[in-house]
Amino acid sequence: MYVCVCHAVSDKQIKQAVENGCCSYREVRDCHNVGKTCGRCVPEARELINETLISLAKDIAQAA
Ligand code: FES
Repeated sequence: MYVCVCHAVSDKQIKQAVENGCCSYREVRDCHNVGKTCGRCVPEARELINETLISLAKDIAQAA
């Protein structure tokens, strides 16, 4: 599913960016241009980034 229609960025691409080390909206934006045009996708992108970060943190905590 596309989160950012203006730049054709999917939810999978955003999750992958976070899994590969992006840890903020700004870092994902700089990698994929998410939100740089109309900005409508910013709230959804931020939420997805936060959810992915929380999920990764839980995985790390369980592994420890
Ligand atoms: S939908 Fe992402 S900048 Fe327009």
